[in-house]
Formats: sequence, structure tokens, C-alpha cells
Amino acid sequence: MERELALEIVRVTELAALASAPWMGRGDKNSADDAATTAMRTMFDSVSIRGTVVIGEGEMDEAPMLYIGEEVGSLQGPELDVAVDPLEGTEIVAKGLNNALSVIAVADKGQLLHAPDMYMEKLAYGPALVGKLSISDPMETTLYKAADALNKKVSDLTVMILDRARHESIVKVLRKVGVRIKFLSDGDVAGAMAPAFPEAGIDLYVGSGGAPEGVLAAAALKCMGGELQARLMPADAFEYERCVQMGIEEPYRVLTMEDMVGTEDVIFAATGVTPGEFLGGVRYFPDERAETHSIVMRAKTKTVRFIRSIHYLPNKPLLQPS
Ligand code: FBP
Repeated sequence: MERELALEIVRVTELAALASAPWMGRGDKNSADDAATTAMRTMFDSVSIRGTVVIGEGEMDEAPMLYIGEEVGSLQGPELDVAVDPLEGTEIVAKGLNNALSVIAVADKGQLLHAPDMYMEKLAYGPALVGKLSISDPMETTLYKAADALNKKVSDLTVMILDRARHESIVKVLRKVGVRIKFLSDGDVAGAMAPAFPEAGIDLYVGSGGAPEGVLAAAALKCMGGELQARLMPADAFEYERCVQMGIEEPYRVLTMEDMVGTEDVIFAATGVTPGEFLGGVRYFPDERAETHSIVMRAKTKTVRFIRSIHYLPNKPLLQPS
């Protein structure tokens, strides 16, 4: 992949974020998602790739745009796998909360796991813990191993987890051991990435969230030298069969970084829609300008770029919810 592609990709997440941010706090997650998806799909036409969506808005019969298998890009250039979440955190935007992102990862064809739409158990951490933890260990063991490797008291660890009833037993262990917990309302791509940003003050991300979001977070962590270990959680025989159909023959086995992102040649870009752990949200100025904050990274070079852009939108094509 040409390195210039990174900037082409971040333009796409910027536009999707600009399109969905006007829906912030309006209680309408579907319109926020539709706006992001339409903008992202439109902007992809100008990107010089022959991309195939492997993680997107759903199956062809359930999503009008950015569905799994859809070809995107100018259809000239390298053949790539494309993973998208035009609006990661639809409910966040609807409720005016933190950590909504517009996200894309691209990699050589066949190198991103085609993750089925189901829950996935996740354990994510930054570079200092790589190679030191196992998702197969009991949670208590993981916490003590992490504290040891980080040279901290276990009570000084901060662990992030989605605030969900299904996490009750994990939270019980976290409380028993005495770590700090930072609960997320939604948006576990940002949550799983957070431990790789020292300034976020998060040591570990644990718990279950969407499998497609797990692959996006794995792509980001690959660029940042962190890791995500995972295990799919098919809820029934139908979901189990779906894994097998999508090429995951042993659905309950641990998925490593290599299983999810099989190459160093991956680009990840995200633009903040609402403010979060490491990116600001979209801000509108009275003079027809808007500001976005994005991150764009390549695993090959491990360059992490933060891009603050000021957009001039004279006719406000994206600024008004219709
Ligand atoms: P959406 O943007 O599709 O609403 O997903 C938000 C999200 O919080 C993800 O970040 C996370 O992986 C998933 O939902 C968790 O699912 P659930 O809300 O069912 O716990």
C-alpha cells in the first residue's frame, strides 16, 4: 500500500464524522448512523483502491450501503480488505455522550478477519504488556500479572469495561481485587485502544463487545504496538454455524492479533465525532468552519499521526440534520 493512502483514508473518516455530528444529542441514532454511512460511502469513491468491505454495516440484504462484500474505492489501485464503522457509538451520539468515532482499517486482500456480527470476549493492552498476558487466565491472575509487569500495585491499575449487566461477574472480581474501574457506556473500539495511549490512564480493557469492533481495535493496536486477544461468543447454533461459514472453523478458540490482522501492512484511521479518551469531537464555528480531530496510523512504520483539520463548509451541506 502507498503511504499516501493513509491521508486519503482519513479524509473519509473526517467526512463521516462531520456528517453525523449534527445529530449529537438529538436522540436519533439511526439518522446519525445513516448520515455517517452515506458520507463515508460517497467519499470512498475518490480513494484509489479496489476495496472489498469485509466488516461493514451488515449483510447485503440488510444494509443499503457499505455492506459486506461491497466493492468500494475508485476501483483502480491495490486490492484491499476494508473494515468500516462509519459511526462507532450510535447511541453515544444520540445521547450526546463521549467516545463516538468514525473508523476505517484497510489491509491487503484476505488479511482482515471477516468477523461475524456477534459478541467477542476481549483483552486489550498497550506495548508494556505484550506477550505477558493470556485471555485464558482467570481475570484475577491477569490483573496480578499486569500489575507485576507494569511495576504497579494491583490497586493502582485502571481497567476499562463496557457498563453492561453481562459483565457483573467480571466487575465482582475487579472490585474484589481492588482495581479502579472506568465504565464505558458504549464505544469499545475507543475503549480497547485506550490502554495504548499512556495519557488515557487505562491499563487494561476487558469484557465483551461486538466482534467487528474487535477487529477494528486489533488493527489500531497493531499500529500502536499493543495487543488484543479475543474469543468469539456464538450465542446459539445459528451463530456458531455463521462463524464456520465465515471461515472460522473453531469458533471458540482464542484469536490472536495475527488471526485478526494477518499483516503489518495495515492502515487505521479514526475521527472523533464526540470527545473521547484520545480524540476531540467535531466542533462547529459560527463562520461556516468546522474542526475535526483524527488519528491515522500504519503498522508497518508505527507512525501515529494526530490530525487537527479545519474544514470550510460554505454551503453547510453536512451541518444541518434534515
Ligand atoms: P453501535 O455503534 O453499533 O451502536 O455499537 C456500539 C457498541 O458499544 C460497540 O462499541 C460495542 O462493541 C457494542 O456496541 C457492544 O454491544 P452491546 O451494546 O450490545 O453491549
